[in-house]
Amino acid sequence: MAKESTIRTPIVCVMGHVDHGKTSLLDRIRGSSVVSTEEGEITQHIGATLVPIDAVTRMGGALSKVSVNVPGLLFIDTPGHHAFTTLRARGGALADMAIVVVDINEGFRPQTIEALQILRNYKTPFVIAANKVDRIHGWRVQENQPFLKTFAQQNERVQGMVETKVYELVGKLSDLGFNSERFDRVSDFARNICIVPTSALTGEGLPDILMVLIGLAQRYMTESLKVSADGPGAGTVLEVKEERGLGMTLDLILYDGTLKVGDEIVVAGNDQIIETKVRSLLKPRPMSEILIEERFERVKSVTAAAGIKVAAPKLDGVIAGSPLRAVRSGNRDEVIEQVRREV
Ligand code: GTP
Ligand code: MG
Repeated sequence: MAKESTIRTPIVCVMGHVDHGKTSLLDRIRGSSVVSTEEGEITQHIGATLVPIDAVTRMGGALSKVSVNVPGLLFIDTPGHHAFTTLRARGGALADMAIVVVDINEGFRPQTIEALQILRNYKTPFVIAANKVDRIHGWRVQENQPFLKTFAQQNERVQGMVETKVYELVGKLSDLGFNSERFDRVSDFARNICIVPTSALTGEGLPDILMVLIGLAQRYMTESLKVSADGPGAGTVLEVKEERGLGMTLDLILYDGTLKVGDEIVVAGNDQIIETKVRSLLKPRPMSEILIEERFERVKSVTAAAGIKVAAPKLDGVIAGSPLRAVRSGNRDEVIEQVRREV
């Protein structure tokens, strides 16, 4: 147990063209796992959703026979590609993995290609969700089923259509220099990108998406996810927001270490480096409690990977995409230099 906890939760960005179903896919993952057990509960983070590993494997059902050693998956939705481009460009290695959502009926669009170029630049492993498969004429819905199970129930014409659409995607990916295949025909994740036909509306194919992500995490990142949980916190600013009663706040994705109330932090501002101190760390409350209490719950510290709201003085001028690092044991100049480099 102690050993496992040193592997942090991988951060999974959901990317793709407008309206292809990124948010719906996450909603479905959240929705189909609303189970009231204590552990394995999905929790809403600032700007992110944490799905613990037992919820992942539960959703993966029969597919989940792989040995898993990541604690879960932290999903980040990317609303509007523009902000994300900036974020990627500045934030560097924020996403450990990605889901690129493509409407299977529409195929590649400009933002699909942009997403793929970003992922290639950062060498980020990813899976393609060939989404809205339920829109193929004549599709027979099998709620929440793994792809192969639902595929077997479709008539020949529909199956042929899925194959044609998948091969169109394979062709487009090949034009961009990626080898890909339908996921069930991929034996080596290092050589082929997996394409999983999905429906965010019906949940079909979602078990497979989750299992491919777990597979990628095991294949690529058990080393890179080993972090010192008590190390100084490091993260990327997703949004800068004024909150009533709190002043200016940062929505931060923490990807390394621990951030504590009272920590000295260094963050990149518009044209200067800002040094300040964490006044409070805020977590969103569960939906059910929001009406009766404050929207946020105060916590003393938070450990990566997590989405957290940071309140601190002097945050004016911080921009989305900025790096943030905590200072520990007097290495202030070093940290400032590091943040400067990351901008
Ligand atoms: P942006 O955030 O604007 O970039 O869009 P998005 O990629 O988050 O798309 P979103 O999830 O908002 O879905 C857009 C529309 O497509 C909504 O009306 C969804 O209900 C619909 N939709 C998403 N996924 C599916 C799917 O698998 N099947 C069907 N039939 N509709 C879907
Ligand atoms: Mg969206």
